[in-house]
Amino acid sequence: MRDFTAARLRGVEPSATVSIADKAKQLVAQGRDVIDLSGGDPHFKTPRHIVEAAHHAMLEGDTHYAPSRGVPQLIRAVQQKFSRDNGLEYAADEIVITPGGKLGLYATIMATVDPGDEVLLLSPAWVSYEPEVRLAGGTAVYVPLEPEDYRITPAVLRSVRAPRAKVLVFNTPNNPTGRVATEEEIRAVAEFAQERDLLVISDELYEKLLYDGRRHLSIASLPGMRERTVTINGASKSYAMTGWRLGYLGAPRELASQILKIQQHSVTSAATFTQFATAEAIESSEEDVRAMLREYERNRSLVVESLSSMDGVRCPCPEGAFYAFPSIGERDSVEFARKLLDESGVAVTPGVAFGPTGEHHVRISFAVATRTLERAMERMRDALAG
Ligand SMILES: Cc1ncc(COP(=O)(O)O)c(C=O)c1O
Repeated sequence: MRDFTAARLRGVEPSATVSIADKAKQLVAQGRDVIDLSGGDPHFKTPRHIVEAAHHAMLEGDTHYAPSRGVPQLIRAVQQKFSRDNGLEYAADEIVITPGGKLGLYATIMATVDPGDEVLLLSPAWVSYEPEVRLAGGTAVYVPLEPEDYRITPAVLRSVRAPRAKVLVFNTPNNPTGRVATEEEIRAVAEFAQERDLLVISDELYEKLLYDGRRHLSIASLPGMRERTVTINGASKSYAMTGWRLGYLGAPRELASQILKIQQHSVTSAATFTQFATAEAIESSEEDVRAMLREYERNRSLVVESLSSMDGVRCPCPEGAFYAFPSIGERDSVEFARKLLDESGVAVTPGVAFGPTGEHHVRISFAVATRTLERAMERMRDALAG
């Protein structure tokens, strides 16, 4: 019998983060005491008023197909959010509500990348960008940032050789490094995109998770950028809503209509009652976000202090999101993560999953209960000492 797998899947690996989280869950199901720091899923419950909004919508009968672009109430909430938080004015037909930010990214890449096109990824980069580009027939080209501080400079951007580059994916606050790009860095990316006539896909999923008074700047709000940027966001990380699968994007009208076609022919729309709940989340969750941030901040200090005192580990302080990305000396990151899970029952993500400059690092999520994190740090210290 012939191989029925499509050629476009050659070289596409399963998601490293999802696979490790699945393995950790499997070990727990077998009765093993495993602490999972590999995922990107806040441990908080979704705030009650958001759950109630979904419940209300369901009881009201909002359990049928939604308009493919999204329900008008959520589109309005997203327009207001973009205007208030990001200084971005989008018309209703420049917004698309997607089932998860991930689908928003995938649909945007499918709508813009042709076979042979190159897509620039600042490395380390989130695990799904490269496979999504590959599925579209494009080629991901990593722009390696220096592990010292992952600073983006005009020189670093211009050093990349990619004559067929069409798109640049930009992610701040960053997964996995926890870095928040400065205004100067964002301006450098904007200038470069205009110089090279690139579309920027701006992944702003962690926008609300900033520490030490940092502020988020959307690249689309810079002069000349709105028409060449797709701004991607979602409910997962800000409001502890990962399982609701709700994302949204703002894009210039023509591009938004192309992205919408992909949504219509694949998933139709995001779930209807989830959209009503997300309108509630966007409009009324400021205090919830602040409370979650306070706990993330405590966990951040715990993780950085613990890791920095371990043998051969260097851990820069994350400026945003909820990940630490320590270097682990000369150790192989896959081997280290495997051993830590098998022998110490702590799941972390090997840094190499985030591109070549991620090797010799691991990603640790600190979106877990503080006590759990303390236990994980003790185990990690023992593993490194052993
Ligand atoms: C950088 C980044 N972008 C996008 C996503 C997608 O999130 P979701 O599909 O849950 O909205 C994630 C999730 O882990 C992420 O870390």
